[in-house]
Amino acid sequence: MKGIVFNLLEEVVTLHHGDDLWDRILDQSGVDGVYTSLGSYPDDDMHQLVNTTANLLEIPANDVILWFGRKSMPLLAERYPHFFADHSSTRPFLVSLNSIIHPEVRKVHSGAIVPVFDFQDAEDGALLMGYQSERKLCALAQGFSEGAADHYEEVLDFKHLKCTQHGDDKCLFHINFYKNC
Ligand code: HEM
Repeated sequence: MKGIVFNLLEEVVTLHHGDDLWDRILDQSGVDGVYTSLGSYPDDDMHQLVNTTANLLEIPANDVILWFGRKSMPLLAERYPHFFADHSSTRPFLVSLNSIIHPEVRKVHSGAIVPVFDFQDAEDGALLMGYQSERKLCALAQGFSEGAADHYEEVLDFKHLKCTQHGDDKCLFHINFYKNC
């Protein structure tokens, strides 16, 4: 996984819980702890960091990933404002992931292995979003999506209709978008 993701985790943890917690997470995870933005590092390091964070904060690892994804978005919006400025709401922003955002990311972060998404309109007007990745980080996809909704002052009703963690061939999300009032 690219260093930028490790850097985001460090920033989110220190922003919300302070430098000391990040130092304890590094100590207890047994990882190197030096991550440059453009470098690539083992996925296992990320799992270890997430699991240690979960133990220290006494919350499930899945909740750490959701929280980390959501709180990362303001940081990504600072660094990549044009991805957000191109859209006025969450739905078209998400739909641009495969065609614009992640391909651009891959130009800058060579070796990035980004997930594959597919999009369809559900009969009830919701967005059906498929997610496929060996990494099975659907919680991160949900957290990023919720963070994007925060950016556009929207709230999501985000359901996992299918999940590879429960034996399905891919993850399928059913997402409704509401203005935050
Ligand atoms: C400014 C917007 C975004 C940027 C700059 C960005 C960038 C990245 C980068 C650098 C990676 C790491 C790839 C690697 O380590 O090989 C990544 C992974 C990922 N991105 Fe994005 N991303 C953005 C928005 C989103 C959004 C809105 C979603 C929501 C669905 C998303 C879903 C994911 C997921 C789930 C991964 C984890 C890798 C995997 O599942 O295989 N990203 N992204």
